[in-house]
Amino acid sequence: MSVELRMRFSRGLHMGFLIAGIVGPATMVMAWFQWHAERRIDQDDLDRRARLLVFQLKESAQDALRHPDREAAKELAGQLEGHSRLIGFAVFRAGGNKVASGKGLSQYMVEIQPVVAEALGDKSEAIGTIRSHDTVVHALATRLTDAQGATRGVIVAVHDVAHLEERATARMIRYAFWSLAVTFMLFALVTGVTWLVYDRPLKDLAEWMRRLRTDNAPDAPPWNLPVALLAKETEHLAASFRAARSSAAADSNGVLADHKHWTRERLRAQALDCLDGGQLVVVSNREPYMHQLNDGEPCLIVPAGGLVTALDPVLQACGGIWVAHGAGDADRQTADAQGNLSVPPGDGRYTLRRVWITREEEQGYYYGLSNEGMWPLCHLAHERPTFRASDWELYVEVNRRFAAAVLEEIGASGATVLVQDYHLALVPQMLKQARPDLRVGVFWHIPWPNPEAFRICPWRTEILNGILGADLVGFHLQQYCNNFLDTVDRMLEARLDWDHFAVELGGHSTLVRPFPISVESWTERRIPTGDALTQQIARFRERYKLSQGQILLGVDRIDYTKGLPERFRAFGRFLEKHPRHRGKVSFVQLGAPSRTHLRRYRDLIVELESLADEINWKFQTDNWMPIRFLVEHHDAATVHAFMQMASVCVVSSLHDGMNLVAKEFVIAKPKCDGVLVLSEFAGAARELPDALIINPYDTEQFADAIRCAVEMDADERTARMHRMRQSVEERNVYWWAASFLTELCGTRISDSRAKPQ
Ligand code: G6P
Repeated sequence: MSVELRMRFSRGLHMGFLIAGIVGPATMVMAWFQWHAERRIDQDDLDRRARLLVFQLKESAQDALRHPDREAAKELAGQLEGHSRLIGFAVFRAGGNKVASGKGLSQYMVEIQPVVAEALGDKSEAIGTIRSHDTVVHALATRLTDAQGATRGVIVAVHDVAHLEERATARMIRYAFWSLAVTFMLFALVTGVTWLVYDRPLKDLAEWMRRLRTDNAPDAPPWNLPVALLAKETEHLAASFRAARSSAAADSNGVLADHKHWTRERLRAQALDCLDGGQLVVVSNREPYMHQLNDGEPCLIVPAGGLVTALDPVLQACGGIWVAHGAGDADRQTADAQGNLSVPPGDGRYTLRRVWITREEEQGYYYGLSNEGMWPLCHLAHERPTFRASDWELYVEVNRRFAAAVLEEIGASGATVLVQDYHLALVPQMLKQARPDLRVGVFWHIPWPNPEAFRICPWRTEILNGILGADLVGFHLQQYCNNFLDTVDRMLEARLDWDHFAVELGGHSTLVRPFPISVESWTERRIPTGDALTQQIARFRERYKLSQGQILLGVDRIDYTKGLPERFRAFGRFLEKHPRHRGKVSFVQLGAPSRTHLRRYRDLIVELESLADEINWKFQTDNWMPIRFLVEHHDAATVHAFMQMASVCVVSSLHDGMNLVAKEFVIAKPKCDGVLVLSEFAGAARELPDALIINPYDTEQFADAIRCAVEMDADERTARMHRMRQSVEERNVYWWAASFLTELCGTRISDSRAKPQ
């Protein structure tokens, strides 16, 4: 017998004993009750029978008792003998003297006396079961009376009942035996079925997973998994596992894997290689350079937000065209007749093509569908999305306008188009329909929610179809890729290839991949350094009375997803809990007003101002103000100077695709003298585990993290910051763009439509 079989046998034996230990006593108790019930029924039958027999003899006995004993005995002679189980009758006078009895009764005369006495006493009838002479007898005694009701004597019928007990006991044993046998058979059946349905498939699954780890597993999981959901989840798990392994393999083997830092030059070379003579076109809603009128003069602004921060350096490195909405009120006068201008102004590295849209279109497409619909739909920050059919119509129309502008810029040449974000979800499909030969990638800068959250969107199918026009769809995190594929799986009739993280729809294949976006180093931006920086810092310290103590910093667009009220409250709580830090720690919030045409955003500014005011009122002194809330557009130089001044940067997003402020702070600290407090709900938290990770909804924990950051010793600060810097430097924005372009240019443009028309 094999060891495995012996183990199974002994496990079965143990289980058998266990069951017998529980079921055995229970069955015995039930059998005992059964025995008693049957005895009761037999007893009742016998009582009835004895009563009937006595009744038949009663009259003769009453008559006989009118005579003296000898005559009475003679009269009754022959009537008192028993037959079969009836042993016989006996008749007694009222005084208890026997008058006559059947022959078989002589040996029981003493034993039946109590029954006779009972029938002569209070009751007119008495019944008793008597054990005697190795047998058991049943005696029923009935009182005999005369016409006036006076007691004359007693008649007793006696039966042998030993056989009844034997029969009931035999039945009890049979019952117990069959109950136990049936229970064991049922148990064996259930165990067998369970083994077939669960145990074996789960063992197969475990074996398959073990082989998956070692790369020898067949592609599909075992077919016979008992629960459909488990089978599906297993498939997803395996796909993620394979994807993680293949991306790790790509990272360690591929062109992007070496540990030489990615620079502008290196990206340019890589892009030239990928683009193979074609143009690079970026298309987004937000433009990288905006002209606003200031005192009647056009004034240049670099809009706040991660998209511009990340993509401008890429275009500066690679050259190309950036197609975007011309939203500034001086944009028309600073561009040519086609809406083109060379940027950055004064150092033309690429072309900005401005797209013009009307106020009404901006209202429906940008403020309405994009920022009141899609933005809260994708950010799980408890803000309810609003969907209006009129906004959707304008969204489709403006997407068409952007697609047309891209096609116009490309002309007849080949190109690689990078479509950016949720404003332009339909553009990939529109481009591919017009020019199947184009390589089209989409990068989604915000989270992708789970299918349950996304399905409330009335135009979910159109949006998914629009995005899937692309050859490559990029998200910051693997989790967003999984959510996206799950959404497609539930909402479209598409074929999902979980092994390669691809979707096939109408003969077109789209890869879905994570590309965590990043930043360029501060030294590559035009910001003051050296003395100029020192002077700028001194000016800020003086203007905002920040000469003493530590500075905590927040840098955000004023958006409800950024967790700004939570941040202010946590800082207030920190001051409340730790009075020793009052007067020594100040919080500076640089807040860029954003989407202020929407009431929700305007209300947020008011809420934050009053919250800051409340906290300041509570704690401020003559020469210290706890919170400086600076609401205006801050240029890169200002942000950088504040990052230099701050010892702690706080990022408390309620939900955020990545959050580049976290990474900007890390690379703003070459001396590693800073602490990052970072929300677990920002994508950046996956790459920066050395930050102090917080849940912004948990005010106490958040306040404690602020204390921990403020009090952290220099060695720990340096060690943590050093590791974070290494990670951001290695995976900077050039690495991000190179990865995206390399993957996109490696995609197969295979469908039948992929020929220039
Ligand atoms: C986020 C979005 C970007 C957007 C930015 C600024 O980062 O992902 O697409 O450009 O916010 O928002 P705004 O509405 O001003 O363009």
